[in-house]
Amino acid sequence: MKKIIIAIDGLSSCGKSTMAKNLAKEISYLYVDTGAMYRAVTLYALRHNLFNHDGSVNIDALERHINHINITLHLNKSTGQPETYLNGQNVEHEIRSMEVSEHVCLIAAISAVRHALVSQQKAMGKEKGIVMDGRDIGTAVFPQAELKIFVTASPAIRAQRRYDELKSKGIQADYNTILKNIEERDYLDSHRQLSPLRKATSAIELDNSQLTMEEQQNWLLDQFNKTIHSLYRD
Ligand code: DC
Repeated sequence: MKKIIIAIDGLSSCGKSTMAKNLAKEISYLYVDTGAMYRAVTLYALRHNLFNHDGSVNIDALERHINHINITLHLNKSTGQPETYLNGQNVEHEIRSMEVSEHVCLIAAISAVRHALVSQQKAMGKEKGIVMDGRDIGTAVFPQAELKIFVTASPAIRAQRRYDELKSKGIQADYNTILKNIEERDYLDSHRQLSPLRKATSAIELDNSQLTMEEQQNWLLDQFNKTIHSLYRD
């Protein structure tokens, strides 16, 4: 069967990565979490002191380092989950920390970073058969994607889900700090100059505030089947 590109964008912590990952598994497509790539660059910047004392990014220094930042995604065979590697080291756990969450918007707003990551992401989709999630997948990375989804949910529900996720991984978390971070990131992600978070005109919107994981999964699979049917019915 012919393969397509599926672009899943949306607000932070709205469950889009889980949805995207599960769909990719079910239909045997490659899954790419682009947020993890921006998080890995952020972790690199924190480790190499590329933030100034006033909290801004030392952009010149980061640009000099950009060719030394190698991000790869590998499937962990024992858990069946994709994991993020930074220069050969597994950083899947570190990139989910609050420290990274609090700095990632600044890194994601830098032109050299977006340029480097978007070109890697485009290359990953050359053969199609890919489910990619992020903020600009349907608008900038794959505007030609055959299926585009835009996911939303209320900030309080997203904060609770993030809190539960961190707790289940044994990472210390505070609900109010998470909520504040989510609201700040919503604002920064949708107001930045470069590729701000936007619903692509042809994207289908899903507010999953009241849906169970199973309901979302069924909805997404249904969208995929409808798209395949309408593209290849002849
Ligand atoms: O999905 P996430 O919360 O892991 O993403 C982390 C940050 O990376 C998010 O605040 C915005 C940024 N991001 C982006 O600018 N473009 C993407 N395609 C994916 C994430």
